[in-house]
Amino acid sequence: MTYLKQVLYNLEKNPKALFCLQKANANLKAWGYTEHGIRHAKITSQRAMYILRKLHYPEEDVYLAGIAGFLHDIGNLVSRYNHEVSSAFLALDMLKEMGVEFNDIIKIMSAIGAHEDDHFLDIPDPIAASLIIADKSDVHRSRVQNNDINTFDIHDRVNYAVEKDQLIVDNSNSKPTIVIDLKINTNFSSIIEYFEIFLHRMKMCKRSAEAINCEFALIINNQRMV
Ligand SMILES: [Fe+2]
Ligand SMILES: [Fe+2]
Repeated sequence: MTYLKQVLYNLEKNPKALFCLQKANANLKAWGYTEHGIRHAKITSQRAMYILRKLHYPEEDVYLAGIAGFLHDIGNLVSRYNHEVSSAFLALDMLKEMGVEFNDIIKIMSAIGAHEDDHFLDIPDPIAASLIIADKSDVHRSRVQNNDINTFDIHDRVNYAVEKDQLIVDNSNSKPTIVIDLKINTNFSSIIEYFEIFLHRMKMCKRSAEAINCEFALIINNQRMV
């Protein structure tokens, strides 16, 4: 059993980590963004681990992805811009203090740093790939922080419209498929609006799936889009 399982367990209760996530989310709420707090951290962590577990990666990689998933957005407490970099360095301090081995911290920093990218760099490793897919798959009504539906922007509308977001690793074929299965209520947002804001993220998911030798499928309202 890897010691990283205990690290993740401790991290989820670590007051500094939780404070960072709360502050990052408070900033994002003030800037009009959707939820990026403890809920998103846990979902990203769990989904990244689910992907690597289903693909039979070593337990160490599974928990490294879980830790990276939990901390990937804490840098938003510094700034939205380049938050993948600030998240990685905040994680460095926190994980050092928790006694995580240097080589493991480096792998976590690398994955966190890769989770946002406007330049289409190659996905560095499976830990980063699983983190990216897990992060981008979390689109859901419960992420909308604006309580006034009349002032919704496109991000609020699209997230509010998503009533189901399921991530599935389908192992039934020789080449596994990573599926994001969404149910979008078109009373709140059109499918086109979804693509308007999520096209880049879906491209990142496709490239991440390829990096771990998987197909990628996006299903919206029972129709395969990608
Ligand atoms: Fe992020
Ligand atoms: Fe995120």
